[in-house]
Amino acid sequence: AEMFDGKRAYEPAAFKAAADALSARAGGLTGEFPQGTLGAPSAARPEIDQARPEFEALARHIGRLADALAIKAGNAPPEITADMRMTGPPMDGGSLLGKRPGAAEADPARMPAEHLLHLILQDCTSCHSKFRQKQQ
Ligand code: HEC
Repeated sequence: AEMFDGKRAYEPAAFKAAADALSARAGGLTGEFPQGTLGAPSAARPEIDQARPEFEALARHIGRLADALAIKAGNAPPEITADMRMTGPPMDGGSLLGKRPGAAEADPARMPAEHLLHLILQDCTSCHSKFRQKQQ
């Protein structure tokens, strides 16, 4: 995200490493929160157990986006090109929880890298706001 925001020098290898890590971690996200491990001292809220399908759908959604980003990052050019940039409003109506009714699910493989990143960060926030205990 810092590379796309210009806060850190863009390097294709570092972009690929970050996207690969994200894709590897996001895929296994549901397995990280088994029944009986929720609540204090973990910040994972007990509500996860009452809303497993929603939690797992979010994890699958972010996993799909992260996989698409990792594939793109594998072919990342030496500089950020215009076609990697986000243009216009999000194509799939925003995050999973804030989706417009009836909005079609767009194909992540056809989204610019920056757009994928934006949707991934929305999924982080969506899940944390519902399933992660606020930090004191
Ligand atoms: C499907 C739900 C979900 C998604 C999606 C998600 N998280 Fe989380 N995240 C959690 C939960 C639940 C916790 C609390 C875990 C705990 O305290 O045991 C957490 C905790 C964290 C923590 C604190 C870890 C610690 O050691 O205390 C960080 C950092 C974090 N998430 C980053 C992210 C980022 C970045 C993304 C998006 C790329 C993301 N998360 C996406 C559910 C999610």
